[in-house]
Amino acid sequence: MPGRRWAWIVLAALLPVLAGFGWSRGRDDGWSAAELAVLAGMRLDRLGALPPDPGNAVADRPEAARLGRALFFDARLSRDGRVSCASCHDPGRQFQDGRPVGRGIADGARRTMPIADAARSPWLFWDGRKDSLWSQALGPLEDGAEHGSNRTRIARQLHAHHRAPYEQVFGAFPPLAGLPDDASPVGTPEQRQAWERMSEAQRDAVNRVFANLGKAVAAYERTLASGPSRFDGYVRAVESGDAAGRQLLTPDEVRGLRLFIGKAQCATCHNGPLFSDQHFHNTGVPPRLPGQPDRGRAAAIARVQADEFNCLGRYSDADAAACGELRFVAADDPGMEGAFRTPGLRNVALRPPYMHGGQLKTLDEVLAHYRRSPPAAAGTSELAPGGKPSAGRLAIRLDDEESRQIVAFLRSLSGGVDEGLPGRPAP
Ligand code: HEC
Ligand code: HEC
Repeated sequence: MPGRRWAWIVLAALLPVLAGFGWSRGRDDGWSAAELAVLAGMRLDRLGALPPDPGNAVADRPEAARLGRALFFDARLSRDGRVSCASCHDPGRQFQDGRPVGRGIADGARRTMPIADAARSPWLFWDGRKDSLWSQALGPLEDGAEHGSNRTRIARQLHAHHRAPYEQVFGAFPPLAGLPDDASPVGTPEQRQAWERMSEAQRDAVNRVFANLGKAVAAYERTLASGPSRFDGYVRAVESGDAAGRQLLTPDEVRGLRLFIGKAQCATCHNGPLFSDQHFHNTGVPPRLPGQPDRGRAAAIARVQADEFNCLGRYSDADAAACGELRFVAADDPGMEGAFRTPGLRNVALRPPYMHGGQLKTLDEVLAHYRRSPPAAAGTSELAPGGKPSAGRLAIRLDDEESRQIVAFLRSLSGGVDEGLPGRPAP
């Protein structure tokens, strides 16, 4: 009977598949359907295309990215000629510096953040005081502890050293003759006076050059992305029933992952392919300087709203309609007192120390912090002190073994940083 023969052929074809299922049960990691859905949502390849930056018309132009890369490594843009973005954002260290706080012209107040995937966050910095990558890039240049320079000096440097590629992207430079050497609306009192003495048209021209510099740097930063890790290979193997691929994580790492998305509730905030909800939370991390709590997000909202380089400002290329994040930010959310942006956890094991001020030296200390969940120095922690159930707060209860397993899992998230632009000039 032809029908029966077909049944045999189908069964024969299926046998290896069925056997494969049986074999893969050899180490049955036993994920439930709900857990599998969470894991699938954390795979790096679920990220999708980079979101557009409507405020930056050159965000995805390769010639802008090449100019941006040259600027990123150019120490001439700093006051002493020694500091570039790469001084703190070292490409050999995932574009950060491994220090508790960044060090440029002087020591800063917060830890240097890695830059890979920053283009996917609606808010930049630990406190989100910038609403775009291009606007963020302007901050360090005039920050006394970072590049320590000022707007008119930077416009001149750009003209002296990067004129041709600049003009290729942005068109002709405005005339710079007659501008003061050092002037800026956010500089020293002398620089501010010099800025006030400039004409409105001069100030506007310098601001536009300055904003364009930020847009080129942002185009470069948009090319930096986290690379796939063992974790991603493991999830793919679990999904496809590939028993060999499942060995990519050790049993302890698998237990850590299960805790991370389950009992330990880490994935409440560290979720999605980057392990961040890109939101702000108070998790009671003790201030870097005792007695001087950092207000975090609460102090940043008014700053980003008043920033002349924000999405709604005249140097942004966006229509107001595209600035929803900024227009609808809640200015008076008490939960933002002492809150910081949830950092992504890809490559996290390779970049101690941790937290916004580098307060915690190791991942073990991070886990010890979550187990203690101390009350916050500013605002109210979302975590229940000591893991004791408390209304409206997350109670994290873990024993030594479980903490160790979570740390083991975090180490499986290392996959380096991929650079989209081929070749990089020596710093
Ligand atoms: C002196 C060290 C230093 C220098 C120089 C420096 N940065 Fe940073 N960078 C930091 C620190 C510290 C933070 C976090 C500061 C904060 O949150 O208040 C940061 C944050 C960032 C972020 C935010 C990442 C995110 O996910 O929110 C980006 C992007 C960035 N820097 C790019 C740059 C660029 C571009 C330059 C050069 C124009 C630069 N940085 C120069 C130390 C530095
Ligand atoms: C309520 C949200 C929330 C929960 C729950 C949470 N985190 Fe965090 N996590 C944050 C925030 C916010 C920060 C940054 C805090 C700061 O710098 O003050 C952070 C920082 C970290 C860091 C440091 C990363 C870096 O680059 O500095 C690690 C590691 C980490 N969390 C792991 C975990 C683990 C493991 C768990 C579960 C035990 C967990 N988190 C639970 C929000 C959360």
